[in-house]
Amino acid sequence: MKAVILVGGEGTRLRPLTCRTVKAMLPILNRPFLEHLFAYLRHNDVKDIILASCYLPGQIEGYFGDGSDFGIRLKYTVEESPLGTAGAVKNAEMHLDDAPFLVFNGDIFTDIDLKAMLSLHKQKGAKASIALTPVEDPSAYGVVETDNNGRVLRFIEKPPRETAPTNLINAGIYILNSEILGEIPAGVKFMFEHHLFPSLVEKDIPVYGFPSDEYWIDMGTPEKYLSLNHDLLSGRSPVHISDIERGQNTVHPTARMDGPVILGGNCRVGAEARIVGPTVVGSGCRILEGACVEGAVLWRDVGVGRGARLLN
Ligand code: GDD
Ligand code: MG
Repeated sequence: MKAVILVGGEGTRLRPLTCRTVKAMLPILNRPFLEHLFAYLRHNDVKDIILASCYLPGQIEGYFGDGSDFGIRLKYTVEESPLGTAGAVKNAEMHLDDAPFLVFNGDIFTDIDLKAMLSLHKQKGAKASIALTPVEDPSAYGVVETDNNGRVLRFIEKPPRETAPTNLINAGIYILNSEILGEIPAGVKFMFEHHLFPSLVEKDIPVYGFPSDEYWIDMGTPEKYLSLNHDLLSGRSPVHISDIERGQNTVHPTARMDGPVILGGNCRVGAEARIVGPTVVGSGCRILEGACVEGAVLWRDVGVGRGARLLN
């Protein structure tokens, strides 16, 4: 199965982290987010991937190239101005064929079973399937109401919390039959959430939900970005990249490290400093004497001053 990953948004909720870095390239355990997503997709036998970009195009290609170093095959599309989530997929049509394909929001970290999702898609005779995940507060997401058989009845994007009919939300992962591309107008802004899915339901085209309790997070806010790092470090979510820790570090014998900590290489940790996990320290960081770094994510080349205390 081919996959289109949507990586064109500006990541406004993550500013200033995303002022110069595409959301999908933000470091997670010292590797670009996408490297984790690619490892997961490869693990699910998805190796042909199209990246639909718009904001800061070129950054992803500069790092991943044609994907061969990462065991996948990559193609890129660039929108001159944002075409919206569905418009971006229409814009990638030349890289797709007649088979059902996957669409992935470029900020979702999950362990949802994609092969099981494809089987259900075929078994139900769906033209479109939407992965669903339960959340505490559905108001920040697209809420999806289904009948007892899993067929989608209603799609409500970001409703007020008290009006949401269910806590099952659109997980930002779809399987679409190729003929669905015919329902998306070319060259204009068009969204899955506001336009395509409601119109498919309206036209009685079969759209099914695929509920899953596997780990799932949208890392698109500062709180969730930090949570994802913490969840991976503390084993609440599987890490699909096998060689995360690398490089040499200089740690003073009186410095202490407790709990899951990753040091990225060429780091210096001074006397009496403390690092308390879950914490990620990027390469080339200097943590001076007596400093305490707890629950934090430091990118590369960060200096933490003498006696400073960083918490979460
Ligand atoms: N190429 C391209 N062009 N990509 C885009 C565009 C565009 O015009 N607009 C958004 N994207 C990408 C973003 O970069 C992101 O990876 C993905 O599409 C989703 O956009 P977000 O801005 O992160 O959406 P959201 O999190 O508010 O809501 C979406 O995800 C939720 C699950 O996390 C919706 O799909 C909700 O229905 C869903 O519940
Ligand atoms: Mg998002």
